Amino acid sequence: MTSFARNQWYVAAYGREVGRDLLARTVLGEPLVLYRTEAGEVVALADRCVHRRFPLSESRLDGDRIVCGYHGFTYAPDGGCVYVPGQQRIPRTARVASYPVVEQDSFVWVWIGDQGLADAAAIPRAPWLADPEWTTVSGMEPLDARYGLLVDNLLDLSHETYLHGGYIGTPEVAETPITTEADEEAGIVRVSRHMHGAECPPFYAKSTGIEGRIDRWQDIEYHAPCLYLLHSRIAPEGVAPGPDGDDGGAFHVEIVYAITPSTENTTYDFWAVARDFARDDEDVSSFLHDSNRAVIMQDVEALNVLEKVIATEPDGYQELSINIDTGGLAARRILARLAAGEQVRAGADAR
Ligand code: FES
Ligand SMILES: [Fe+2]
Repeated sequence: MTSFARNQWYVAAYGREVGRDLLARTVLGEPLVLYRTEAGEVVALADRCVHRRFPLSESRLDGDRIVCGYHGFTYAPDGGCVYVPGQQRIPRTARVASYPVVEQDSFVWVWIGDQGLADAAAIPRAPWLADPEWTTVSGMEPLDARYGLLVDNLLDLSHETYLHGGYIGTPEVAETPITTEADEEAGIVRVSRHMHGAECPPFYAKSTGIEGRIDRWQDIEYHAPCLYLLHSRIAPEGVAPGPDGDDGGAFHVEIVYAITPSTENTTYDFWAVARDFARDDEDVSSFLHDSNRAVIMQDVEALNVLEKVIATEPDGYQELSINIDTGGLAARRILARLAAGEQVRAGADAR
């Protein structure tokens, strides 16, 4: 059974998805309803009316309040009930949980765990996504697989060669060794692969216009549990950054994933591709959007199959790991520690 790291920030939605309609999302097994107040603040409440469990996301907004669609219990943005039908007295326990929310870098981050530990300054950044100097395409695909499978997938990009040939995979990705660095304290895993004189896959050939071979750098930075950054540098072969760090001869793509466990066996796969070139070119935007989505769907299909395989295998099945798995194994260790540490704390609280 997957155990979740509860005392962490997770992406529940893009800011653009949350408005004056009620949006249902389930994060770490907790059903949430999200909406924006008239003043524009994002609210996240438990999506279950205290009366007879009707989903508040199936109800309606009256100003900043949700009116339950079953018998009319009415909730303020702090989750407190302000009206019940047929009586003046509102029971003291008439309230739904409200969750801390932070809007940052185009994402809506939510905190499901112990509210006393929620520190907005601890949210990792993906500044390109809301920076006017960058152009971003993005989306979200739901996955019928546990989030750990997506973490494994993203920390080992050698699979690009086999699963994503024709889009982003070329032989060099699988052939080039990686370097891995894990900062267990900070919960960050870095995996780098720098390819020289590599084939240019269609994803980059068509978007950058480079003809011929390229130097292609992939520098992954995974901030456990939720945020994954892939700093991608593409340049014509032999074009290096200048001594002062100037890198005007290269194309830069920041690929961002937010990996949010929905339930034990389902995950939200938020993805974004930000670029610093052809920024006003709509054709490049739609090409990158469609290509990246196609790549994501190849992963979704593969991971959904893996989830089914895991469901049928006997206990104690042993995987075989090799060098390419170093980053994924480091991530697993960090995630296990985050989840276990919090379980210990939760146990201590209960006594
Ligand atoms: S279930 Fe919500 S008011 Fe009855
Ligand atoms: Fe992939």
